[in-house]
Amino acid sequence: MRKKIIAANWKMHMTVSEAEAFLHTFLHEIGDEAGAEVVIVPPFTALAKVSEILGRGQAAKLGAQNMHAEKSGAFTGEISAPMLRELYVRYVVLGHSERRTIFGETDEVVNRKVRAALDAALKPIVCIGETLEQRDAGQVEAVLHSQIEKGLHGLNTKELSDAVIAYEPVWAIGTGRTASPQQAQEAHAFIRKTLSEMWDAATADKVRIQYGGSVKPQNAAELMREPDIDGALVGGASLDPRGFAEIVKAAAHH
Ligand code: PGA
Repeated sequence: MRKKIIAANWKMHMTVSEAEAFLHTFLHEIGDEAGAEVVIVPPFTALAKVSEILGRGQAAKLGAQNMHAEKSGAFTGEISAPMLRELYVRYVVLGHSERRTIFGETDEVVNRKVRAALDAALKPIVCIGETLEQRDAGQVEAVLHSQIEKGLHGLNTKELSDAVIAYEPVWAIGTGRTASPQQAQEAHAFIRKTLSEMWDAATADKVRIQYGGSVKPQNAAELMREPDIDGALVGGASLDPRGFAEIVKAAAHH
């Protein structure tokens, strides 16, 4: 059984004091809810404070939104895996479509970061997904296949089973337009089939595949019910502590 994993991708939102206020309410709301793994992914500036508040408790783990593939060096403005590890970061989101489109990250760049994350014992949450033009042109499977092949190139089976894949159709991110549970399930099943062909069925069966794109308290349960949807990467709706707690609860119960 794959344990559901729900991540709050705060993007460029939340100051340190806002993050503290969020956690105060959120941790109270979820109480002992242990049915799903929760990952809070704040901006870099709030990582230290969120880490301190979460401590070693199991209520939620810490994630980062990006990192550089090198350990250190002359890369002004960048953050490395060892810097994240020191703050007890466990997960790192890589290849988010905003990183790909706004900051020009290619599958090759994503792959170097995935390698660096795994080498530093950080679990990558690797984002893949098609644009609306690609969907309309019937290219969903080709796009996903290529992003998996290039982005996860070189992983052994243990590394693959530690990775999380986030299927985020670009047209559903921040648009309020969610993929239907059937559309999402179809893509997730294709992703798992591709993993089983490129690695093996037993490993593919262990990999958690999150859905992302306008997940809200109102649609979380129907998405989480699908057999190959193992959690959610939540943007906008993760900024509200009560709403995000509802999403976690919906996942814990499916
Ligand atoms: P959204 O963002 O939930 O605001 O659509 C999801 C994401 O970008 O990870």
